[in-house]
Amino acid sequence: PRKIIIDTDPGQDDAVAILLALASPEEIDVLGITCVAGNVPLDLTSKNARIVCELAGHRDIKVFAGCDRPLGRDLVTAEHVHGKTGLDGPDLPDPTMPLTEGHGVDFIIEQVRAHPAGSVTLCPLGPLTNIATALQKAPDIAEKVQEIVLMGGGYFEGGNITPTAEFNIYVDPHAADIVFKSGIPIVVMPLDVTHKALVTKPRNDAFRALGTPVGVAVAEMTDFFERFDKEKYGSEGAPLHDPCVTAYLINPDLFKGRHINVEIETQSELTMGMTVADWWGVTDRAPNAVFVGDLDADGFFALLTERLARL
Ligand code: BDR
Ligand code: CA
Repeated sequence: PRKIIIDTDPGQDDAVAILLALASPEEIDVLGITCVAGNVPLDLTSKNARIVCELAGHRDIKVFAGCDRPLGRDLVTAEHVHGKTGLDGPDLPDPTMPLTEGHGVDFIIEQVRAHPAGSVTLCPLGPLTNIATALQKAPDIAEKVQEIVLMGGGYFEGGNITPTAEFNIYVDPHAADIVFKSGIPIVVMPLDVTHKALVTKPRNDAFRALGTPVGVAVAEMTDFFERFDKEKYGSEGAPLHDPCVTAYLINPDLFKGRHINVEIETQSELTMGMTVADWWGVTDRAPNAVFVGDLDADGFFALLTERLARL
Protein backbone atom coordinates (compact mmCIF):
# COMPACT_ATOMS: atom_id res chain seq x y z
CA PRO A 1 0.00 0.00 0.00
CA ARG A 2 0.94 3.60 -0.57
CA LYS A 3 2.12 5.38 2.58
CA ILE A 4 0.30 8.67 3.00
CA ILE A 5 -0.11 11.54 5.41
CA ILE A 6 -3.55 13.16 5.27
CA ASP A 7 -3.37 16.90 5.95
CA THR A 8 -6.87 18.13 6.62
CA ASP A 9 -9.43 20.60 8.00
CA PRO A 10 -12.58 18.46 8.53
CA GLY A 11 -15.12 19.37 7.03
CA GLN A 12 -17.76 16.81 5.97
CA ASP A 13 -16.01 16.09 2.68
CA ASP A 14 -12.64 15.76 4.45
CA ALA A 15 -14.34 13.28 6.76
CA VAL A 16 -15.51 11.14 3.83
CA ALA A 17 -12.01 11.29 2.31
CA ILE A 18 -10.54 10.02 5.59
CA LEU A 19 -13.15 7.26 5.88
CA LEU A 20 -12.40 6.12 2.33
CA ALA A 21 -8.67 5.94 3.10
CA LEU A 22 -9.18 4.05 6.35
CA ALA A 23 -11.49 1.60 4.57
CA SER A 24 -8.81 0.80 1.99
CA PRO A 25 -5.78 -0.69 3.80
CA GLU A 26 -4.75 -2.74 0.77
CA GLU A 27 -4.05 0.40 -1.24
CA ILE A 28 -3.48 3.02 1.45
CA ASP A 29 -1.40 3.02 4.61
CA VAL A 30 -2.28 6.12 6.65
CA LEU A 31 0.89 7.06 8.56
CA GLY A 32 -0.97 9.83 10.35
CA ILE A 33 -3.34 12.74 10.05
CA THR A 34 -2.17 16.33 10.44
CA CYS A 35 -4.77 19.02 11.02
CA VAL A 36 -4.76 22.61 9.89
CA ALA A 37 -6.98 25.65 10.36
CA GLY A 38 -9.36 26.04 7.41
CA ASN A 39 -13.05 25.24 7.26
CA VAL A 40 -13.11 25.92 11.00
CA PRO A 41 -10.35 26.87 13.48
CA LEU A 42 -7.67 24.33 14.42
CA ASP A 43 -9.21 23.27 17.75
CA LEU A 44 -12.29 22.09 15.85
CA THR A 45 -10.53 20.51 12.85
CA SER A 46 -8.25 18.55 15.18
CA LYS A 47 -11.28 17.44 17.18
CA ASN A 48 -13.28 16.52 14.07
CA ALA A 49 -10.44 14.40 12.67
CA ARG A 50 -10.53 12.30 15.84
CA ILE A 51 -14.33 12.02 15.72
CA VAL A 52 -13.96 10.60 12.22
CA CYS A 53 -11.22 8.13 13.22
CA GLU A 54 -13.39 6.88 16.07
CA LEU A 55 -16.39 6.59 13.77
CA ALA A 56 -14.23 4.39 11.54
CA GLY A 57 -13.16 2.28 14.52
CA HIS A 58 -9.58 3.53 14.16
CA ARG A 59 -8.45 4.93 17.49
CA ASP A 60 -4.98 3.75 16.48
CA ILE A 61 -4.42 6.54 13.94
CA LYS A 62 -2.06 9.31 15.00
CA VAL A 63 -3.77 12.69 14.78
CA PHE A 64 -1.70 15.86 15.16
CA ALA A 65 -2.56 19.52 15.45
CA GLY A 66 -0.64 21.65 12.98
CA CYS A 67 -0.69 25.33 12.02
CA ASP A 68 -3.48 27.48 13.43
CA ARG A 69 -3.24 30.26 10.87
CA PRO A 70 -2.10 30.95 7.31
CA LEU A 71 1.47 32.08 6.62
CA GLY A 72 0.76 35.69 5.82
CA ARG A 73 -2.96 36.42 5.97
CA ASP A 74 -5.77 36.33 8.51
CA LEU A 75 -7.63 33.03 8.71
CA VAL A 76 -10.82 32.82 6.64
CA THR A 77 -13.18 30.00 7.68
CA ALA A 78 -16.22 28.41 6.02
CA GLU A 79 -18.91 27.86 8.65
CA HIS A 80 -21.38 29.05 6.00
CA VAL A 81 -20.71 25.78 4.19
CA HIS A 82 -19.81 23.29 6.92
CA GLY A 83 -21.79 24.59 9.91
CA LYS A 84 -20.60 25.83 13.28
CA THR A 85 -18.72 22.66 14.22
CA GLY A 86 -17.31 22.07 10.74
CA LEU A 87 -18.95 18.65 10.83
CA ASP A 88 -22.62 19.58 11.15
CA GLY A 89 -25.21 17.01 10.15
CA PRO A 90 -24.77 13.78 12.11
CA ASP A 91 -24.83 13.70 15.88
CA LEU A 92 -21.47 12.11 16.63
CA PRO A 93 -19.94 11.73 20.11
CA ASP A 94 -16.97 13.82 21.21
CA PRO A 95 -13.72 11.93 20.70
CA THR A 96 -12.08 10.14 23.58
CA MET A 97 -8.79 9.48 21.79
CA PRO A 98 -6.23 12.20 22.49
CA LEU A 99 -4.24 14.19 19.96
CA THR A 100 -0.76 12.75 19.49
CA GLU A 101 1.85 14.93 21.11
CA GLY A 102 4.01 17.08 18.85
CA HIS A 103 3.35 19.45 15.97
CA GLY A 104 1.87 18.21 12.70
CA VAL A 105 4.60 19.94 10.71
CA ASP A 106 7.32 18.09 12.62
CA PHE A 107 5.50 14.80 12.06
CA ILE A 108 5.47 15.41 8.30
CA ILE A 109 9.19 16.21 8.26
CA GLU A 110 10.12 13.26 10.46
CA GLN A 111 8.06 10.74 8.47
CA VAL A 112 9.36 11.85 5.08
CA ARG A 113 12.93 11.62 6.40
CA ALA A 114 12.34 8.28 8.13
CA HIS A 115 11.07 6.42 5.04
CA PRO A 116 13.01 5.66 1.86
CA ALA A 117 13.01 8.55 -0.64
CA GLY A 118 9.99 8.46 -2.92
CA SER A 119 7.79 6.41 -0.63
CA VAL A 120 5.62 8.93 1.24
CA THR A 121 2.71 10.74 -0.43
CA LEU A 122 1.19 13.88 1.10
CA CYS A 123 -2.56 14.36 0.74
CA PRO A 124 -3.61 17.92 1.58
CA LEU A 125 -7.38 18.42 1.84
CA GLY A 126 -7.29 21.95 3.25
CA PRO A 127 -5.16 25.10 3.11
CA LEU A 128 -1.51 24.23 2.40
CA THR A 129 -0.06 25.88 5.51
CA ASN A 130 1.34 22.72 7.16
CA ILE A 131 2.93 21.44 3.95
CA ALA A 132 4.54 24.80 3.10
CA THR A 133 5.80 25.21 6.65
CA ALA A 134 7.36 21.74 6.52
CA LEU A 135 9.07 22.65 3.22
CA GLN A 136 10.37 25.91 4.69
CA LYS A 137 11.65 24.24 7.83
CA ALA A 138 13.15 21.22 6.07
CA PRO A 139 13.84 21.92 2.38
CA ASP A 140 15.54 18.52 2.07
CA ILE A 141 12.16 16.75 2.18
CA ALA A 142 11.14 18.18 -1.22
CA GLU A 143 13.16 15.62 -3.13
CA LYS A 144 12.07 12.77 -0.87
CA VAL A 145 8.28 13.17 -1.12
CA GLN A 146 6.83 10.72 -3.65
CA GLU A 147 3.93 12.93 -4.69
CA ILE A 148 1.44 15.47 -3.39
CA VAL A 149 -2.17 14.70 -4.30
CA LEU A 150 -4.26 17.67 -3.20
CA MET A 151 -7.72 19.17 -3.42
CA GLY A 152 -7.59 22.82 -4.38
CA GLY A 153 -8.03 25.37 -7.11
CA GLY A 154 -10.31 25.64 -10.08
CA TYR A 155 -9.96 26.95 -13.57
CA PHE A 156 -12.88 26.67 -15.97
CA GLU A 157 -15.18 26.33 -13.00
CA GLY A 158 -13.96 29.59 -11.41
CA GLY A 159 -13.87 29.92 -7.63
CA ASN A 160 -16.12 29.15 -4.70
CA ILE A 161 -14.91 31.73 -2.17
CA THR A 162 -14.16 34.56 -4.61
CA PRO A 163 -15.06 34.66 -8.31
CA THR A 164 -11.60 33.32 -9.18
CA ALA A 165 -10.37 31.46 -6.09
CA GLU A 166 -11.15 28.11 -4.54
CA PHE A 167 -11.29 28.05 -0.72
CA ASN A 168 -8.20 25.94 0.14
CA ILE A 169 -5.88 27.97 -2.07
CA TYR A 170 -7.48 31.31 -1.16
CA VAL A 171 -7.05 30.78 2.57
CA ASP A 172 -3.28 30.44 2.24
CA PRO A 173 -2.12 31.45 -1.24
CA HIS A 174 1.45 31.99 -0.05
CA ALA A 175 1.61 28.42 1.21
CA ALA A 176 0.12 27.18 -2.06
CA ASP A 177 2.74 29.15 -3.99
CA ILE A 178 5.53 27.45 -2.04
CA VAL A 179 4.04 24.01 -2.66
CA PHE A 180 3.51 24.55 -6.40
CA LYS A 181 7.09 25.81 -6.75
CA SER A 182 8.57 22.96 -4.67
CA GLY A 183 9.42 20.66 -7.57
CA ILE A 184 7.50 17.82 -5.91
CA PRO A 185 5.24 15.94 -8.38
CA ILE A 186 1.71 17.25 -7.78
CA VAL A 187 -1.75 15.99 -8.71
CA VAL A 188 -4.49 18.61 -8.31
CA MET A 189 -8.18 17.89 -7.81
CA PRO A 190 -9.71 21.29 -8.66
CA LEU A 191 -13.37 22.33 -8.56
CA ASP A 192 -13.51 21.42 -12.25
CA VAL A 193 -13.51 17.77 -11.26
CA THR A 194 -14.93 17.86 -7.72
CA HIS A 195 -18.10 19.58 -8.94
CA LYS A 196 -18.69 16.44 -11.00
CA ALA A 197 -18.59 14.23 -7.87
CA LEU A 198 -22.11 15.12 -6.77
CA VAL A 199 -24.03 13.20 -4.12
CA THR A 200 -27.36 12.93 -5.91
CA LYS A 201 -30.37 11.56 -4.05
CA PRO A 202 -29.85 7.93 -5.16
CA ARG A 203 -26.16 8.13 -4.18
CA ASN A 204 -27.10 9.53 -0.77
CA ASP A 205 -29.71 6.77 -0.37
CA ALA A 206 -27.04 4.18 -1.14
CA PHE A 207 -24.90 5.48 1.76
CA ARG A 208 -27.87 5.40 4.13
CA ALA A 209 -28.91 1.94 2.94
CA LEU A 210 -25.60 0.55 4.20
CA GLY A 211 -27.39 0.72 7.54
CA THR A 212 -24.11 1.08 9.43
CA PRO A 213 -23.11 3.99 11.69
CA VAL A 214 -20.62 5.06 8.98
CA GLY A 215 -23.15 4.83 6.15
CA VAL A 216 -25.77 6.79 8.05
CA ALA A 217 -23.27 9.44 9.23
CA VAL A 218 -22.00 9.95 5.67
CA ALA A 219 -25.58 10.30 4.41
CA GLU A 220 -26.28 12.89 7.11
CA MET A 221 -23.06 14.77 6.45
CA THR A 222 -23.67 14.99 2.72
CA ASP A 223 -27.31 15.98 3.34
CA PHE A 224 -26.10 18.91 5.40
CA PHE A 225 -23.30 19.78 3.01
CA GLU A 226 -25.69 19.83 0.04
CA ARG A 227 -27.66 22.80 1.31
CA PHE A 228 -24.99 25.33 0.46
CA ASP A 229 -24.44 24.25 -3.12
CA LYS A 230 -28.14 23.88 -3.76
CA GLU A 231 -28.85 27.43 -2.68
CA LYS A 232 -25.77 28.83 -4.32
CA TYR A 233 -25.52 27.04 -7.64
CA GLY A 234 -28.88 25.29 -7.85
CA SER A 235 -26.92 22.07 -8.22
CA GLU A 236 -28.34 18.75 -7.13
CA GLY A 237 -26.17 17.01 -4.54
CA ALA A 238 -23.15 17.91 -2.43
CA PRO A 239 -19.81 17.96 -4.24
CA LEU A 240 -17.45 15.47 -2.63
CA HIS A 241 -14.30 17.53 -3.13
CA ASP A 242 -11.77 15.91 -0.83
CA PRO A 243 -12.65 12.23 -1.40
CA CYS A 244 -11.42 12.69 -4.98
CA VAL A 245 -7.92 12.69 -3.49
CA THR A 246 -8.21 9.37 -1.69
CA ALA A 247 -10.20 7.79 -4.54
CA TYR A 248 -7.37 8.75 -6.91
CA LEU A 249 -4.90 6.84 -4.76
CA ILE A 250 -7.09 3.74 -4.93
CA ASN A 251 -7.99 3.94 -8.63
CA PRO A 252 -6.31 6.71 -10.68
CA ASP A 253 -8.05 5.38 -13.80
CA LEU A 254 -11.28 7.04 -12.60
CA PHE A 255 -9.69 10.44 -13.33
CA LYS A 256 -8.40 12.30 -16.38
CA GLY A 257 -6.08 15.29 -16.34
CA ARG A 258 -3.24 17.10 -18.02
CA HIS A 259 0.33 17.69 -16.92
CA ILE A 260 0.51 21.48 -17.13
CA ASN A 261 1.91 24.58 -15.50
CA VAL A 262 -0.06 25.94 -12.55
CA GLU A 263 0.88 29.20 -10.83
CA ILE A 264 -0.73 30.78 -7.78
CA GLU A 265 -1.76 34.44 -7.67
CA THR A 266 -0.44 36.02 -4.46
CA GLN A 267 -0.37 39.73 -5.38
CA SER A 268 -3.72 40.92 -6.63
CA GLU A 269 -6.49 41.37 -4.05
CA LEU A 270 -8.98 40.91 -6.89
CA THR A 271 -7.78 37.47 -7.95
CA MET A 272 -5.88 36.41 -4.80
CA GLY A 273 -5.44 32.63 -4.64
CA MET A 274 -6.38 32.00 -8.25
CA THR A 275 -4.83 28.87 -9.74
CA VAL A 276 -3.61 30.09 -13.11
CA ALA A 277 -3.63 26.85 -15.06
CA ASP A 278 -1.99 26.75 -18.49
CA TRP A 279 -4.47 24.15 -19.73
CA TRP A 280 -3.93 25.04 -23.39
CA GLY A 281 -0.14 25.25 -23.18
CA VAL A 282 -0.02 28.88 -24.25
CA THR A 283 3.08 29.71 -22.20
CA ASP A 284 6.52 28.14 -22.09
CA ARG A 285 6.31 27.74 -18.33
CA ALA A 286 7.33 24.23 -17.30
CA PRO A 287 4.58 21.80 -16.26
CA ASN A 288 4.54 21.31 -12.48
CA ALA A 289 1.24 19.54 -11.82
CA VAL A 290 -1.31 17.13 -13.20
CA PHE A 291 -4.50 19.19 -13.24
CA VAL A 292 -7.45 16.81 -13.18
CA GLY A 293 -10.50 17.82 -15.18
CA ASP A 294 -12.76 14.81 -15.42
CA LEU A 295 -13.84 11.73 -13.51
CA ASP A 296 -16.01 8.67 -13.93
CA ALA A 297 -18.61 9.75 -11.37
CA ASP A 298 -20.51 6.46 -11.30
CA GLY A 299 -17.28 4.53 -10.84
CA PHE A 300 -16.24 6.93 -8.08
CA PHE A 301 -19.50 6.47 -6.12
CA ALA A 302 -19.49 2.71 -6.64
CA LEU A 303 -15.99 2.57 -5.17
CA LEU A 304 -16.86 4.89 -2.28
CA THR A 305 -20.03 3.03 -1.30
CA GLU A 306 -18.35 -0.36 -1.55
CA ARG A 307 -15.47 0.81 0.66
CA LEU A 308 -17.65 2.56 3.25
CA ALA A 309 -19.54 -0.74 3.63
CA ARG A 310 -16.31 -2.25 4.98
CA LEU A 311 -16.17 0.04 8.01
C1 BDR B 1 -12.55 22.70 -0.26
O1 BDR B 1 -12.84 23.67 0.75
C2 BDR B 1 -13.41 23.05 1.86
O2 BDR B 1 -14.55 23.74 2.21
C3 BDR B 1 -13.67 21.62 1.50
O3 BDR B 1 -13.42 20.78 2.60
C4 BDR B 1 -12.71 21.35 0.38
O4 BDR B 1 -11.46 20.93 0.86
C5 BDR B 1 -13.47 22.95 -1.45
O5 BDR B 1 -13.26 24.22 -1.96
CA1 CA C 1 -11.15 20.27 3.18
